[in-house]
Amino acid sequence: MIETNQIQELKKNGILKIKNFLSNEELGKCLEILKYYKAPKNHKNSFFAHDPKQFLIKLIKLEFKKFNQSAYLYSLSKKKKLNDLANNVFNTRSFLRYIDGYHNPISDKYILPWHADQAYVGDEKMTDGFVNPDHYNLKFLVYLTDVESNNGCTSYIPGSNKIAYAIRDGIFKKKINYQPYYFLQDFRKLISNKNNKEYFESYFKDGNEIESFMQKTKFIEEGKDTDEFDFSLKAGDAIVLDEGGIHKGSQTLKSERMMMRFFYSVKK
Ligand SMILES: [Fe+2]
Repeated sequence: MIETNQIQELKKNGILKIKNFLSNEELGKCLEILKYYKAPKNHKNSFFAHDPKQFLIKLIKLEFKKFNQSAYLYSLSKKKKLNDLANNVFNTRSFLRYIDGYHNPISDKYILPWHADQAYVGDEKMTDGFVNPDHYNLKFLVYLTDVESNNGCTSYIPGSNKIAYAIRDGIFKKKINYQPYYFLQDFRKLISNKNNKEYFESYFKDGNEIESFMQKTKFIEEGKDTDEFDFSLKAGDAIVLDEGGIHKGSQTLKSERMMMRFFYSVKK
């Protein structure tokens, strides 16, 4: 279903939009499942079984409804060959880490400011060492309601995935020193740090990824935001994103949002 050139686009930009990801029938069924719980993000009702152990637990607890709903969502991930696409992006075998689905009410609160996942914030103690650059999630976000600018779209800075990878790799291999980079401002500071100049220059010796990224994200230094990376998608459309890149969950100013997510990652 997903073409080779789309995989290339996803690897390059860190984000891929897929129109009509769900058929009308599938959309109806998914909406029915999510509306049953109308669970907020991270609530226990928002999670579905995705591996044999969890399906077994549902049976033992006699949670037949959740078992059947999970089976439907899991079969959807199989039908859409999401694991194959994830394997292709990771260049190795990956696995379904979890499935969830949740509801955001109409609100003028930002869901999340510009940030990168698998990143560090503050001076936390690194007791477990630094994150392996390949241990990130590829996220499939399936919109069950229409989204647009300031209304539930997940904006993403194209190409920021490559820079984020370079940062994680550099810190992991001790080629650059740790400093926080979860928020966009910090991410930019790390890139601009003169001690890291040589590292990034040699990492991106054939391209202008850094200059282009700094240009695209200049708005943050001016205390502004931008709608340049927003998009409109319909219920049943989906996006795939490399969570390591810089992204933002926008407000849901006009309508409530229902979304399903499938996370893939490589074994740790
Ligand atoms: Fe995130």
